Amino acid sequence: MRILLHRGDGVTQPWIAGFAKALPQAQVVVWREGADTAPCDYAVLFAPPAAMVPELQSVKAIFLTGAGADAILKVADQLPPVPIVRLGDAGMASQMAEYAVYAVLRYFRRFDEYEAQARARVWKQLPQYEREDFTVGVLGTGVLGKRVLDALAPFGFPLRGWSRTPKHIDGVQCFAGADQLADFLRGTRVLVCMLPLTPDTASLLNLERLSLLAPGAYVVNVARGGHVVDEDLLAQVQSGHIAGAMLDVFGTEPLPASHPFWHDARIAITPHAAALTLPGPSAVQIAHKIQALERGDTIDDVVDVQRGY
Ligand code: NAP
Ligand code: GLV
Repeated sequence: MRILLHRGDGVTQPWIAGFAKALPQAQVVVWREGADTAPCDYAVLFAPPAAMVPELQSVKAIFLTGAGADAILKVADQLPPVPIVRLGDAGMASQMAEYAVYAVLRYFRRFDEYEAQARARVWKQLPQYEREDFTVGVLGTGVLGKRVLDALAPFGFPLRGWSRTPKHIDGVQCFAGADQLADFLRGTRVLVCMLPLTPDTASLLNLERLSLLAPGAYVVNVARGGHVVDEDLLAQVQSGHIAGAMLDVFGTEPLPASHPFWHDARIAITPHAAALTLPGPSAVQIAHKIQALERGDTIDDVVDVQRGY
């Protein structure tokens, strides 16, 4: 069995080592532009370079080295009709939970302000915010969003979740569908975006929707930059309606040095690092799915191309 591997960061060794352990019968071929690669059975990649796409015609399935399928779906019409399989957790959910809990507590306990005070050598206690006024709303209650909600539960904030299809999650007020989005946003004090980027969710967080959030709201985007209309978020921060944001993902990555987000102290920035792909657990998950497909079994996390995630 031959697996064609591409990693945008060029770091392939941990993947080769992971597959050597989890699927020793497989030969891993690292894709290189211009190399004459014999046909492979499976592909493992995230965002294939244009020159790689024709070489995917022979594969039985395409495994993504990430949870989001938006990058591969840009070339969906050039792919063979085989399953596209994303990662389901594979060690990302706990990282996402840590990031979201940190972002919510940093704002709730005013650590962001204390950090700024400390830089200016200011010693001043700030009044506590009321926990019951701190409704945390998570957009997307899938694999990662659900784990974020579970991690927030012990802190006692009122919790909300929004998904495409109706859900019941203990201790969480659940909203579903476009019709219930405004009710979800109204009164939400901390908004955590954990949605896939699809035609339905692109530019979701625009001026109109951001203005529905509670005054003094805080926005945490750990999904994709394309969910947020940057100038609308900036306008809301500058008007004071939104107190600040912690952003991990951007329309253009790396975030250009000239982007106004870098220049507003109320906006905290991380470099798409909220949940990093872990090669070891990811190779194990992909190996198990390849074995299941070889047996003729069904597998989880197959992307629905029409739905976009
Ligand atoms: P998932 O399990 O597929 O969950 C997606 C959730 O979004 C589901 O609850 C789904 O609703 C909901 N949703 C999708 N379209 C919707 C719509 N139009 N309206 C309302 N809800 C909608 O995905 P996941 O594994 O949690 O990952 C989510 C995203 O996180 C990925 O797509 C990726 O972009 C991002 N991500 C970012 C990082 C990072 O480091 N920043 C790392 C990993 C992933 P249903 O439950 O009804 O289907
Ligand atoms: C990262 O952003 C992923 O989709 O896994």
